[in-house]
Amino acid sequence: MKKTLFILAGVVCLLATACKSQLDKRIDATLQQMTLEEKARLIVGTGNEGRWVSETSYGDMKNIVPGAAGTTCPIERLDIPFIILSDGPAGINIDSTRDGVEGTFYCTHFPIGTVLSSTWNTQLVEAVGRCIGDEAMHYGVDVVLGPGMNIHRHPLNGRNFEYYSEDPLLTGKMAAAMINGIQQNGVAACPKHFAANNQETNRMGNDVQVSQRALREIYLKGFEIAVREGHPKALMTSYNKINGISVSERHDLVTEFLRDECGFDGTVMTDWYGGDHPEEQMRAGNDLIMPGQQWQMDSIVNAVNAGRLDVAYVDECVRRILRLIYTSPRNQEGHTYDNNPDLVAHANVTRESSTEGMVLLKNDANALPLSQNVKQVALFGCASYDFIAGGSGSGDVRRAYTVSMLEGLQNAGYEMDPLLAARYNDFVKKSIADNLSKVTARFADMVRIRPDEMPLTEADIAEQVRRADCAIITIGRTCGEYYDRTSSDFQLSSVERSMIENVCRAFHAAGKKVTVVLNIGGVIETASWKHLPDAILCAWQPGQEGGNSVADILSGKQTPSGKLPMTFPIALSDIGANANFPVDQTSENVSVASRRVDRGERNVDFTRYDEGIYVGYRWFDSRQVEVSYPFGYGLSYTTFDYNNIKVKQSGKKIKVQLDVTNTGTMEGMEVVQLYVTAPGASMDKPAKELKAFCKTPKLAAGKKTKVEMTINTDDLRSYDETAQQWVLEPGTYKLHIANSSRDIRATETINLK
Ligand code: GLC
Repeated sequence: MKKTLFILAGVVCLLATACKSQLDKRIDATLQQMTLEEKARLIVGTGNEGRWVSETSYGDMKNIVPGAAGTTCPIERLDIPFIILSDGPAGINIDSTRDGVEGTFYCTHFPIGTVLSSTWNTQLVEAVGRCIGDEAMHYGVDVVLGPGMNIHRHPLNGRNFEYYSEDPLLTGKMAAAMINGIQQNGVAACPKHFAANNQETNRMGNDVQVSQRALREIYLKGFEIAVREGHPKALMTSYNKINGISVSERHDLVTEFLRDECGFDGTVMTDWYGGDHPEEQMRAGNDLIMPGQQWQMDSIVNAVNAGRLDVAYVDECVRRILRLIYTSPRNQEGHTYDNNPDLVAHANVTRESSTEGMVLLKNDANALPLSQNVKQVALFGCASYDFIAGGSGSGDVRRAYTVSMLEGLQNAGYEMDPLLAARYNDFVKKSIADNLSKVTARFADMVRIRPDEMPLTEADIAEQVRRADCAIITIGRTCGEYYDRTSSDFQLSSVERSMIENVCRAFHAAGKKVTVVLNIGGVIETASWKHLPDAILCAWQPGQEGGNSVADILSGKQTPSGKLPMTFPIALSDIGANANFPVDQTSENVSVASRRVDRGERNVDFTRYDEGIYVGYRWFDSRQVEVSYPFGYGLSYTTFDYNNIKVKQSGKKIKVQLDVTNTGTMEGMEVVQLYVTAPGASMDKPAKELKAFCKTPKLAAGKKTKVEMTINTDDLRSYDETAQQWVLEPGTYKLHIANSSRDIRATETINLK
């Protein structure tokens, strides 16, 4: 049997090599026939107001999949087909209706990236990726412009909702899972934005000034893991500069690091209108310029003709673009698509995945799950009725519906006061309309306008105390591409604060409990008010089924198992990066349009990453700064014991095994985390770093499961900038087996030579 398998494997390899050479032959044959102009035309894509308008011959490209972000350019003379590229990380973002076409083209709005990383469940994230890839296939999309995977360097970055974590390992593992899911059926994933795109303020012109060590250990590490374990077919470079040069023009990052070191063998594209010098982008190995314009084609042709640019660079880029085009779904023999994905099945996947990504932050005296005799619920907060499914901009999804908290709780059998609901709905409509009328900035409405909070009178609250068995308050935050959040957005507003204070006072006086639900896309301030309610559930922006997912947790249908993928600090000033982030510096003229006119403004034209590798818990733990909720934290409705811990080392492999037992009364899932403290003798090192994690399957009360985590000593190295290489410091390493970065259950030690 083994022999047969061995022979079979050999045949497959030979065939694969033969097939690959078939593809290479086809690419070479096409390339040889292409004129320089045709090569430049292929390198520069179409999309947005770039090529669609300027070149009528491509104007109809936008009607192939209306709302898609762009396409490559067909070259009819050589029968080179095109492909369709569409956002985004939370689902396919295309128009839901088409002029003159019957029917709708809704896509599923899956949970945002931060919800997925809060599950710490790579299998779940891969399953969500599979659904996104499936919807791409049904709608004729060949490349999904996701996952978004930049590091949460600062909570106010407007696009953190699209990204995973402050930690590079969690980021990389989540991204690899998403990529593997999307690419299951041949659709290409396109992780973005490579790299260090950690603010929206002047994103197209900002120069990130960062040390090599921080770059390697924090900002590139996630992409390294995603490439090695996800094998993406495409990847998007970021708008920003790194140490003075646009990333899409950096050969050392795009070719030497990404391709030569990490083994990336796909197609690199710019972000939309990213970079300034096409010939530099060619030299760097940034293959596709999206969605380019005529001047970029001219610049490539002129540079080659003038002898400034070796055509070999252009040919390499064309080869990699042709490979992506020839292997894309729509260009396979007999490929068709029906614009009819199974949205019902995908809605269930988004409901289950966002439920698993919710993080229970507080649950005094088992306020949750709601007790059996709760029937009437007093539901406060605009976001309870105008629930926020996700962030805005390219990471949004034109979904068919959003299940609000009101609907989710009704579906679960709870009753809410219809009069209060009507008042909130009217208030929300009016407040949004008022806010939109004040909008002046061109892109301001791209960040979904959030309604002000509706003030409540004592009488309003007293009426609800009389009617209801408990109270639920939802605090909502919108966020999105183009804008960083403001410091006031981080804080509760005075109306929100008095709502929580007054509702808690009145309901507690009547011996009734209060839960606060956070419907947010990024971290907010919690320390000053978290003592007030009995329970706090961070629901994030959980996609279109949000209200049902929250009800699944509140009712006890599902036990919460989410863990924070980033720290909730007490104050912005506690954050290492805070002095070097554009806090409240965002204004219309810098937030979206590329200034590209460097006025030397700190945190706008250049941002100094002075905190180095000390991002997130690496900062807070190394400096023993108190936080409101630590990285990796999340409560359950049950409890878990860790025992029988064994550590085995053989060669570079360190294996940690333990038993996890559900010692509570309800079923639940646990996320076991493994942090490592290095000797830190020859190099400064963070107090601890996450080096492995494992999410258990559902465990019934009293049941136990074996957990095994493996790390490679290579993962324990640090980047020595002087030697320009990774070094492993000899000495004693502490292995912390933990329930969060600040709840260490056991510590083992190993000695490394
Ligand atoms: C946007 C975003 C990028 C998106 C692209 C296409 O500017 O930065 O994430 O994929 O353009 O919409």
